[in-house]
Amino acid sequence: MITGKFPNLRLRRSRKNDWSRRLIEENNLTSSDFILPIFLIEGKNKKQKISSMPGVYRYTLDKLSPFIEKAIRNKIPMIALFPYTNSRKKNELGTESLNEDNLVCKAIRLIKKKYKDQIGIMCDVALDPYTSHGHDGLLKSGYVLNDETIQMLINQSLVQAQMGCDVIAPSDMMDGRIGEIRKALDKNGLKMTQILSYAVKYASSYYGPFRDAVGSKRLLRGDKKNYQMDFRNSDEALREVALDIKEGADMVMVKPGLPYLDIIKSVKEKFKIPVMAYQVSGEYSLLENSVNKNLVHKDIILENLISFKRAGANAIISYYADRLNDIIK
Ligand code: PBG
Repeated sequence: MITGKFPNLRLRRSRKNDWSRRLIEENNLTSSDFILPIFLIEGKNKKQKISSMPGVYRYTLDKLSPFIEKAIRNKIPMIALFPYTNSRKKNELGTESLNEDNLVCKAIRLIKKKYKDQIGIMCDVALDPYTSHGHDGLLKSGYVLNDETIQMLINQSLVQAQMGCDVIAPSDMMDGRIGEIRKALDKNGLKMTQILSYAVKYASSYYGPFRDAVGSKRLLRGDKKNYQMDFRNSDEALREVALDIKEGADMVMVKPGLPYLDIIKSVKEKFKIPVMAYQVSGEYSLLENSVNKNLVHKDIILENLISFKRAGANAIISYYADRLNDIIK
């Protein structure tokens, strides 16, 4: 496959000038490659710092508009909503997830009313923002129940879709939930609501700052290894994706991102479907803190983001998605 021989062939010839490097570039980023995550908090007039994620904030609904309008102006295709839930609204079963007036539902209604289809809305389906134990499903003797949790997830999906959410994103890793959610959506006149399955989600230490951002960190009992994937495995990731495609997923997510570029690449090569990469909170924190401390140059951010495209991702969920102008130029 590799042809040519030195000195006739000099790969450095095409690297010599900026115009030439741009001419032969294989990958690039535009704002259409991004999904912007937004953390919501109850109350009024707050834009609250998240200490483990410098540069990222929690917004009350009345403070959201400028942030969303900027995303629309910059042609970001979709936002992802994540609620910080007050601990008095949490319980063992996570029932606040089904409340039509919970924070996420209020936000969906508000954004859809104001901005219609100028930007897509994606919402996580999982119980962890709402459970008093911080797990994504119903807990029994330290084990997260599968089929019983699916019943909750179906209802959570229906509520969010009925409020106007465009893309339902189950991030819980229960077996069989994509098929059940698809069936329920179709039965309830929500045929066109898309499903982005977090098909490949590893049990990862990279989620720490996110759990802090949504207020589940202190609460979490144990770890999530009996439902999220073991990071020693990659064949298993392909089985997860194959199942979710059969069950009706429109797109799949690989998460975290950077330590799992091999998985992004093989999912894309094997299944030829839209693959999203999640540059998760821990990746963001490591990068942002290191840049702030001048340990590394800020171009490292672009280098990380491009690697997802090189691996084959169609888009990236990134906490940098609100600051792309400085990053991609
Ligand atoms: C919840 C969820 C998590 C993330 C997105 N949805 C955390 C978890 O599974 O514990 C992590 C995102 C991030 O770290 O940025 N199901």
